[in-house]
Amino acid sequence: EFQVCRTTTLAHKRVLVTAGGTREPLDPVRFIGNHSSGRMGFAIAKAAAIAGAEVTLVSGINTLPTPRGVVRRIDVMTTGEMKAAVDSVYPQCDAVIKAAAVADYRAAHPASEKIKKDTATLHLELAKNPDILWELGQRKTHQLLVGFAAETTRVLEYGMAKLRKKNLDMLVANDVSAEGAGFQGDTNIATLLFADGTQEALEKMDKFALATIIVERVAALLAAHPE
Ligand code: CTP
Ligand code: CA
Repeated sequence: EFQVCRTTTLAHKRVLVTAGGTREPLDPVRFIGNHSSGRMGFAIAKAAAIAGAEVTLVSGINTLPTPRGVVRRIDVMTTGEMKAAVDSVYPQCDAVIKAAAVADYRAAHPASEKIKKDTATLHLELAKNPDILWELGQRKTHQLLVGFAAETTRVLEYGMAKLRKKNLDMLVANDVSAEGAGFQGDTNIATLLFADGTQEALEKMDKFALATIIVERVAALLAAHPE
């Protein structure tokens, strides 16, 4: 294991990383969003570039600087825009690491003018967004797929179910309600789940340290992957 990690890099590998949250407009001034900071995905993009990969970063709206060595950054707002960007890059990818926090629903009928507060209650009809990662799993040819699961309960059970359902090779499961984990902060606590059913529980660590481990595992899986 140690040997694999030390000798495996991502040189000549094309890696797509998604980061940050998507936003769905309700009207010209409001949106549905989430607390994702983009830091975990940006740390992964940085670690993958350091490991020698040709990194494309698809980013939800945030103000983080593009990590040095990332060759292409595509900024998106909505889940639909993220899907279009990811789908366009996917055929040429060796690995996809999907750290983004994707909005599961969007406004069914976004208002073209600002919504006025002239009613006592406001009903919003939401339409389900496509599951970008699930669809990649259905169309997988040679790509290695890594997903994330942010959970607040039954983390490993829900995580393993997502890994299977989305046809992933690895899933980074984290309990976003735990102290020192999740969307904001500089640290994270994760368990790596693999398609062969094995699990690797990691200590609380800096997001870049976790990113480096994720990238090492991706490199090892790619090295073992029949092309
Ligand atoms: N994901 C995606 N497209 C979506 C929703 C999620 O690509 N529309 C990806 C995320 O980027 C992440 C993984 O799927 O890598 C799991 O996301 P998560 O929100 O934890 O799971 P969901 O499948 O959306 O299920 P739920 O939110 O109901 O737990
Ligand atoms: Ca979700």
